[in-house]
Amino acid sequence: MRIASFVGQKGGVGKSTLARVLTVAAARQEHKVLLADFDPEQLSCVEWSAMRLRNGIAPDIEERVFNKLKTLRETASEFDLAFVDTRGLADELTKDISQESDVVFLPTGTSMDVLRPTLALARRLSKSKKISNKIVLILSKVGRSERLLQTARETIPDAGFEVLDNVWPERDGF
Ligand SMILES: Nc1ncnc2c1ncn2[C@@H]1O[C@H](COP(=O)(O)OP(=O)(O)O)[C@@H](O)[C@H]1O
Ligand SMILES: [Mg+2]
Repeated sequence: MRIASFVGQKGGVGKSTLARVLTVAAARQEHKVLLADFDPEQLSCVEWSAMRLRNGIAPDIEERVFNKLKTLRETASEFDLAFVDTRGLADELTKDISQESDVVFLPTGTSMDVLRPTLALARRLSKSKKISNKIVLILSKVGRSERLLQTARETIPDAGFEVLDNVWPERDGF
């Protein structure tokens, strides 16, 4: 099972939304995909999943809640791909999940208020050899300011990290 996780130090940057849209896309491509929710307090993916079921929205998504890495590992024979959604606060569990992942996505806004703590987290995580080459930032909820976007695109590689070329634009609603 390959694992892509979404981690961050801030809430509201799009971790859950990106994990969900990628899970849906992978399910449409016939992957055996799991949406793993490591945020048992918020249960945001659980509610989302229940809402899809109630409204009969296809494709069916397998969504489960976890609080231990061990339990995620135990599902590895059932799925070929897992998208992991985590809490808005990076802790030891975040580090464990990141070490287990094939890619660790850090969604971030373009403003320095969000970018700075995200880069600080990236630095912290990259101290682990098992994580340092897996970190990829995603510019998320990007607004109309070309200047902010350009600055963010330059700041991230300057800090030594990768950023996706594609950005996740801000929309009126999701
Ligand atoms: N591209 C976007 N444009 C506008 N709103 C977005 C976008 N992506 C996510 N949102 C909204 O922003 C809020 C926070 O997103 P969420 O994915 O829950 O963040 P996180 O999981 O990092 O806390 C949600 O209300 C979500 O619907
Ligand atoms: Mg979330």
